[in-house]
Amino acid sequence: MEFTYDRVKYRELLRTKSNLGDIQLTLPRVPPSVLDIDIRDEEITPPTDVQNGCSFPLCTSSVFEGQISEANYMTLGDDVKKVISCYIHVKDLDVSFKPGDAIAILPCNLDTEVEKFAVYLKVKDVLNKKCSINIQTSVKKKSNFQHIPTITSLNYVLKYCVDIRSVPKKAMLLILSECASDSFEKRCLQELCSREGSALYNTHILEPGATIQDVLASFPSCQPPLGRILELLPRLLPRPYSIASSPLISPHSVRIVLSVVEQPVKGLCSGWLHDVLAPLLGTCKEPLEKQMGELSLKPKQTVLVPVSFRRTHNFNLPDDLSVPLILIGPGTGIAPFIGFLQHRSAQKKTLHNVSFGEIWLFYGCRYSDRDFLFRSDIYKFMEEGILSRFFISFSRETTNNGVKYVQDNIKKHAQIFIQKILEERAMIYVCGDGKNMATDVWKTIVHLISSEKGIPEEEALSLLLNMQEKGTYKQDIWL
Ligand SMILES: Cc1cc2nc3c(=O)[nH]c(=O)nc-3n(C[C@H](O)[C@H](O)[C@H](O)COP(=O)(O)OP(=O)(O)OC[C@H]3O[C@@H](n4cnc5c(N)ncnc54)[C@H](O)[C@@H]3O)c2cc1C
Ligand SMILES: NC(=O)c1ccc[n+]([C@@H]2O[C@H](COP(=O)([O-])OP(=O)(O)OC[C@H]3O[C@@H](n4cnc5c(N)ncnc54)[C@H](OP(=O)(O)O)[C@@H]3O)[C@@H](O)[C@H]2O)c1
Repeated sequence: MEFTYDRVKYRELLRTKSNLGDIQLTLPRVPPSVLDIDIRDEEITPPTDVQNGCSFPLCTSSVFEGQISEANYMTLGDDVKKVISCYIHVKDLDVSFKPGDAIAILPCNLDTEVEKFAVYLKVKDVLNKKCSINIQTSVKKKSNFQHIPTITSLNYVLKYCVDIRSVPKKAMLLILSECASDSFEKRCLQELCSREGSALYNTHILEPGATIQDVLASFPSCQPPLGRILELLPRLLPRPYSIASSPLISPHSVRIVLSVVEQPVKGLCSGWLHDVLAPLLGTCKEPLEKQMGELSLKPKQTVLVPVSFRRTHNFNLPDDLSVPLILIGPGTGIAPFIGFLQHRSAQKKTLHNVSFGEIWLFYGCRYSDRDFLFRSDIYKFMEEGILSRFFISFSRETTNNGVKYVQDNIKKHAQIFIQKILEERAMIYVCGDGKNMATDVWKTIVHLISSEKGIPEEEALSLLLNMQEKGTYKQDIWL
């Protein structure tokens, strides 16, 4: 896999435009050196503990090897994103999870990228040798490095422990500037991390998402010592995936639905999962329903991935089952709602004399026949009366009558929507893309409250903010 950035163009950009002239620069303070690294000419068997056995941030269980033996494509064709459904077995684990929670999966860096990085750091020949990494005794915050084993190999650290694709912070650029032998390169790097060059940092580093490797490629005279780089590289973090199943229906496994990121670069976790799940995946040439039916015919194989449960802070079902719910989740944003609906289905079968509130679902995808996730499950929930109303939008079909996105369907049914939230006190759940969709849905609802109630937009906004504060407008979104 190669980065899609045009490295040559990027290098030109840095070298020709990041010149602030001769002005005096205000540089950040040099962070003290904290790691002592010693590499011996001995082979070592890599450690088996994931990231030195260190727990993942925000997670509620220890890290364990999730077994995946079923995986399937849920979409078809080139003009939709690849979406994979898989089940992670959690049998024999003493953990509890609820619909709305997520499971965090730790990817690893690609071997090709690790090797390239090792070349920049001039450590390619010793990648698999025994390496001791110790924190200097004077360092107070030792916890920052707990994810790196003390006795290890550099290959293990670069592959499993640190984020070698991270965007360098200014402290890193400063360290790099100190290690550049070419005076022009040194000046450029100083400018990028200086107070005076903060606009340059934004346009040349932050906005293009330049990685430490891009910067090292752009400044070849820069020969940073390994320790300085390792101590400034952030920890490689797991990615959360919403649980799309209910523990009442499948207590020993959790289902996840994964959108494979291919642009602007291959996603580290989703791309890696796509690769490791390849032996389990169908050919993607059969219609969706047929592929699902063929699952049981595939030979049984198991893929192991490091995972941990991650509890949501507020995206669970309410305790009061009579509260009406409005679920809004286009694309893979539907994942937790399938868990909600399964859960409600199981509750309806076992809890008697309980009044259950209505559940409405607003879902959107591109085409009715290519990326309509969970189509048969949704219609089954409708038939069973678990789902009271279902509103679907197809963004790329010409016959959608102006209902392109979930928010267009909300607008189309404005009157009943507003009545449901303001008079019947329905709770709203929004899941999925936080950059555009969640903001557009929010704005649409503010606007509709204002027009339906005949109140100013500011008043409608404070009403919605109030719902959010009380926990009746909930979002689980990814920015
Ligand atoms: C609480 C929570 C629950 C989530 N649940 C799910 C889920 O159920 N299903 C699911 O598929 N994802 C889910 N996500 C997103 C998931 O955690 C990852 O962020 C996603 O899979 C991308 O990770 P990656 O390592 O593949 O990409 P990265 O290597 O982190 O990113 C690669 C590049 O792609 C960009 N990028 C990343 N994601 C996207 C995107 N979607 N669209 C465009 N550009 C992108 C990045 O900015 C970067 O430039 C959830 C996120 C959160 C916070
Ligand atoms: N809990 C969480 O935080 C969570 C859970 C699941 C998924 N996610 C993340 O949420 C995102 C979901 O994206 P996806 O890749 O699954 O979806 P997608 O396939 O890209 O899009 C789904 C549908 O949403 C439409 N859409 C695009 N812009 C929109 C907008 N502004 N408002 C409303 N609809 C819009 C798309 O239309 P067009 O493409 O035709 O424009 C498409 O029809 C992913 O990034 C995933 O990682 C987060």
